[in-house]
Amino acid sequence: MEAQLYPRLKRDVLFRPYGHHDHDACLAIYRQNEADRFPRGYTEEFSKYLRGDAAIIVAEMDHRVVGYGGIRINDSNIALLSFGIVAPEFQGQRIGTTLTLLRISQLASYGCSFLIYIAALNASLPFYRQFGFRESQKWKAKDGQEHPLARVRVSDASIQKIGRTLSRRGVEVRGHLALPVSGDLSCITEEVSSGGWRFKCQTTVHSDSDPGTVGSHP
Ligand SMILES: CC(C)(COP(=O)(O)OP(=O)(O)OC[C@H]1O[C@@H](n2cnc3c(N)ncnc32)[C@H](O)[C@@H]1OP(=O)(O)O)[C@@H](O)C(=O)NCCC(=O)NCCS
Repeated sequence: MEAQLYPRLKRDVLFRPYGHHDHDACLAIYRQNEADRFPRGYTEEFSKYLRGDAAIIVAEMDHRVVGYGGIRINDSNIALLSFGIVAPEFQGQRIGTTLTLLRISQLASYGCSFLIYIAALNASLPFYRQFGFRESQKWKAKDGQEHPLARVRVSDASIQKIGRTLSRRGVEVRGHLALPVSGDLSCITEEVSSGGWRFKCQTTVHSDSDPGTVGSHP
C-alpha cells in the first residue's frame, strides 16, 4: 500500500469535498468511462450515489473537475471505496492513485486498522491489486453481471504514514469532508442499501470469503 506513495503526483491538483454543484461534471466523467466498464444502465444509479451519503473527494485542476472517489465507513472498522474515476485525458498522472490514498488517509483519525473494500470492475482490478487489494467475493450488478469485490486490511501505522506523507506534500482535502459513520454497510454482506452502489455479494464463490467475520474488530 505505502509503495503507492511513489512516484508522487507531479501536477498541481486541488482535492476538496464534493458539492452538489459538481453533480453534472462528475456525471460527465462517469459517462466518458462508462462504455465497456460500468454495468449498462447505471447512470441513474450513479446519479443517486452522488446525491447519497458517501463522502466524495473531488480532484480539480484549473477549476475543472478531473476525477473523484467516494468512501463510506461503518462502526466495525470497515470502509468501502466507491467510484474512483479520473477523466480519460487526465488518466496516468497519479491522480487516481492519490485519490485512493487520500481516501484511505481519511481513516487516520480513528487510530485503528481497517478492512477496506472496493467494488471493482475487471478492468480496474489490476489497478487496485497494486495497493494490495485481493478479490474476496463477487458483487452482482442489477443486470446480473458479476464483478470482483476486493479487499485489503490496512494497519493503523500504514494509514498514519500515508496521511503524514501526503500532508507533507501538501496533498490534503481542502475543506471539511464529512465522513459519516454508517452502521449499515450491508452492501458487504447482503443486498444493499439505498443511495449506494447496489450489489449483492456471492459469498460462496471464493473460499476465503467470510462475511461472518468481516465486521469484527481487529
Ligand atoms: C482506474 C483509474 C481510477 C486509475 O486512475 P489514474 O489516475 O489513471 O491512475 P494512476 O495514474 O494513478 O495510475 C497509477 C498506476 O496504475 C496503472 N494503472 C492505471 N489504471 C490501471 C488499470 N486499469 N489496470 C492496471 N494498471 C492501471 C498506471 O499505469 C500507473 O502505473 P505506473 O505508475 O507504473 O505508470 C482511472 O484509470 C479510471 O478512472 N479508469 C476508468 C474508470 C474505472 O475503471 N474506475 C474504477 C471503478 S471501480
